[in-house]
Amino acid sequence: MRLKKLSLINFKNLAQQEIVFGQSINCFVGDNGTCKTNIVDAIHYLSLCKSALGMSDSQCVLHGEDAFVIDGTYENDEGRREQIVCTYNRGNQKIIKRNGKAYERFSDHLGLIPVVIVSPADSMLISESAEERRRYINAFISQFDHDYLHQMIRYNAALAERNKYLKIGSDEQMLQIYDMQLAATSKGIYERRKEMIEMLQPIVAKYYGMLSGDRESVALAYRSDLQNGELTELLTDARQKDIILGHTTVGIHRDEILFTIGDVPLRKYGSQGQQKSFIIALKLAQYQIIAEQTGRAPILLLDDVFDKLDESRVAELIAIVASDAFSQIVITDCSYERMERLLSGSNADYKLFNVTYGKVLD
Ligand SMILES: Nc1ncnc2c1ncn2[C@@H]1O[C@H](COP(=O)(O)OP(=O)(O)O)[C@@H](O)[C@H]1O
Ligand SMILES: [Mg+2]
Repeated sequence: MRLKKLSLINFKNLAQQEIVFGQSINCFVGDNGTCKTNIVDAIHYLSLCKSALGMSDSQCVLHGEDAFVIDGTYENDEGRREQIVCTYNRGNQKIIKRNGKAYERFSDHLGLIPVVIVSPADSMLISESAEERRRYINAFISQFDHDYLHQMIRYNAALAERNKYLKIGSDEQMLQIYDMQLAATSKGIYERRKEMIEMLQPIVAKYYGMLSGDRESVALAYRSDLQNGELTELLTDARQKDIILGHTTVGIHRDEILFTIGDVPLRKYGSQGQQKSFIIALKLAQYQIIAEQTGRAPILLLDDVFDKLDESRVAELIAIVASDAFSQIVITDCSYERMERLLSGSNADYKLFNVTYGKVLD
């Protein structure tokens, strides 16, 4: 799927803008605080129905205005057009339309226009708690497996109920019902996470090796309570503890994904550049898996990724994404000179846009 044209009205600081995209690399260059990330975020909205930066819909309306419109025209691999429009009015529901028809559930839209984003906010994937990594793996899998998403919703609902009940009661039969609900939904989630992390591992290692010139090796590993047995048994064993603590202490809501570099934790021992390279390798691997799973090439969004990377890693990254394995790419950077130099030396088909505050100049 390729984005042909993006029209924005009152989306963040973009009052009115139309952008015609090139087939492969699209690069937006401008000073800090102009509108580069806002453009990337608008593209993210059209794929995942929300901001990539965790901003609420109302925070994305241009200050002083009532509504925003994001209108994207895409072309799929067979040359068929898809028009996706996202509108939001302050105080009202957000509406996503595909070719004029509104979706009843946004989850039905996920995966139609797959997207993978690499942004400075991703450093949280390494620095923050396991919850951040679970959120990541959930969003990743949900783009091609709607069943997974629905299982997650059911699991979380059952977990919330069980935790609520543990604060007021300890009836064995009641708890058994919750335990069965948790066990029923967690198995598929566990299997899927395990499968995906195993699939990611060699591809992340490959891309990291390319970026670092094979200087270090990295790995990721899955840790889950479910590796220790059936959840119903684990919940029974933990029951007294759960009653005392008033919450559920075993289950896939405690899953962890470990990132390591040369067998030690990446968070503790990885330099900033190494951590950034890891995140990029992880996202490129995610791209490859989504492309395989959906049969559609995602749009790759690289927001400000060159900061903190040395020149050789930057050049290698450009060479990787300019290869046939990647389809359409959106890159943002603050240096026109650097981008022009890197792209003109890469043989890739590219389009460079200059941006100023709230405006894209062709
Ligand atoms: N809802 C909004 N209304 C008006 N301006 C906004 C809104 N949300 C963000 N902005 C502004 O948009 C500007 C550009 O942001 P951004 O795209 O992140 O810059 P950059 O080019 O550095 O990536 C910032 O100054 C920010 O304050
Ligand atoms: Mg930015």
